[in-house]
Amino acid sequence: MKFKSQKIAFWFFAVCMLLLTLQIVYGFIMGFARLGLDGLHDFIPFNVARTTHTNLLVVWLLTGFMGAAYYIIPEESDRELYSEKLAWIQLISWVVVGVTAVIGFHFGWWEGRKFLEIPRPLDYLVVVNVLLFLYNIGMTIWNATKRSTTQLVLFFGLFSAALLYLPGMLYFDNQTMDSYFRWWVVHLWVEGVWELIMGGILSFLLIKLTGVDREIIEKWLYVVVGLTFLSGILGTGHHYYWIGAPKYWLMIGGLFSALEPLAFLAMAIWALNMYRKKGKDHPNKIALYWTLGSAIMSFIGAGFLGFAHTWPSVNQWTHGTLITAMHGHLAFWGAYAMLVLAVIAYALPNLTGRKLFNGMNGYIAFWAANVGMLGMTGALAVAGIAQVYLERKMGMDFLAVQKEIQFHFIGMLLAATLFTVGIGMYIFDFIRHGMPNDEAIGKNIDDQNVK
Ligand code: HEM
Ligand code: HEM
Ligand SMILES: [Fe+2]
Repeated sequence: MKFKSQKIAFWFFAVCMLLLTLQIVYGFIMGFARLGLDGLHDFIPFNVARTTHTNLLVVWLLTGFMGAAYYIIPEESDRELYSEKLAWIQLISWVVVGVTAVIGFHFGWWEGRKFLEIPRPLDYLVVVNVLLFLYNIGMTIWNATKRSTTQLVLFFGLFSAALLYLPGMLYFDNQTMDSYFRWWVVHLWVEGVWELIMGGILSFLLIKLTGVDREIIEKWLYVVVGLTFLSGILGTGHHYYWIGAPKYWLMIGGLFSALEPLAFLAMAIWALNMYRKKGKDHPNKIALYWTLGSAIMSFIGAGFLGFAHTWPSVNQWTHGTLITAMHGHLAFWGAYAMLVLAVIAYALPNLTGRKLFNGMNGYIAFWAANVGMLGMTGALAVAGIAQVYLERKMGMDFLAVQKEIQFHFIGMLLAATLFTVGIGMYIFDFIRHGMPNDEAIGKNIDDQNVK
């Protein structure tokens, strides 16, 4: 690391590891429940497990983005963080709100809007917390001696993500209106402003890991931002097909969402191209694996598998089935989970001064997690296709169909086990790095190996 205050990032990353572990536990609870093994049903019924699983996902990814910002912004601004103390207050209050929300879910304290189940009083605390975060990052940039596109795109992404949290807090007693604005958060996050955060982080990692000129790398960033806005905003319409919104959304949503894969394709081509042009061999290969992996896997999970069910004439059959869950898993994994794991893999050796990236462990973790996640996606795809045919084409009863497709969840759980082995090894490596320490200041590993 270059600056002492970057150390705070480590603690955000440590929280990520904890919450990811918990998320996986709840995934298994649901997977077993799907097989009829639901001994925990009285304490953690399926809907509670599902809510906890998805909210933990969102919280650990946001925690990862914050950690990434606390690491990247001081370095891009060439100065210490505005206030380290504020960052600590923000971290601790963030964890308190998150833990309260998760415990609350188990006692029925939630709102019934998928992905946004955190109850209203906690929403206000989230808003205050995120304002603290933005203030700290914003002041660091304001007082910076350097400006960069990477820094500004990252900040703009984080700022817009915070702004877009607000429509999710509006109250409607009309189902259509409620659904309409829920997507301003859920869709405009993952297919809009989170893509800007992704672009910013990817840009930083590519600059550090490939050594290609910043000017070239940041030109691509403009392309990614442009394609995201062009497709993602009106692409929201692919969630308005069947909720009671006007009919024109069928055309607009279909057309613009079909263009959304372009932004992810651009990110994949960008990352691979920069790697081919590389001006140096960075010793931290495993960070490069996660970085390129994220760019490629996001195209497959979000771009390709999203495209597969985005056209109205397909979506009328697949809407809300396991096809959606299939896409949801690989999209979140490729675009955002892998990206956060990439930042951590890059930052950890710089924060702790330990160069543990050359062992086999890291590679096995990478492949096991990715092959495992692809296997889970495959199992959900087969189950989803069977579900669509039996339930929607043949007209079989919903629960009878669930029984028919139960078998595929054995496959899913086997793949999930492989995935979990990979994540376990990643976390093992994380722990082996030890704590961040001041001796690592000024000794960034990327500055030492220019060809
Ligand atoms: C990283 C980016 C993405 C992530 C994390 C993501 C994740 C998700 C998730 C979790 C859902 C379920 C939402 C819910 O029902 O509440 C969903 C739905 C959907 N996604 Fe994505 N997605 C991404 C990108 C895309 C793209 C690029 C497309 C189109 C090309 C797409 C097409 C769809 C469609 C059509 C649905 C609705 C499925 C249904 O009708 O049930 N997604 N996505
Ligand atoms: C490794 C163990 C995991 C298992 C066994 C698992 C299993 C499940 C199950 C059974 C569901 C509910 C599907 C349904 O409604 O029937 C679910 C939902 C979901 N999981 Fe996982 N999961 C795991 C890990 C993950 C990871 C690592 C991610 C993200 C990177 C993730 C993202 C999601 C999302 C976004 C949903 C909601 C999908 C939708 O809205 O349709 N899961 N998971
Ligand atoms: Fe969407």
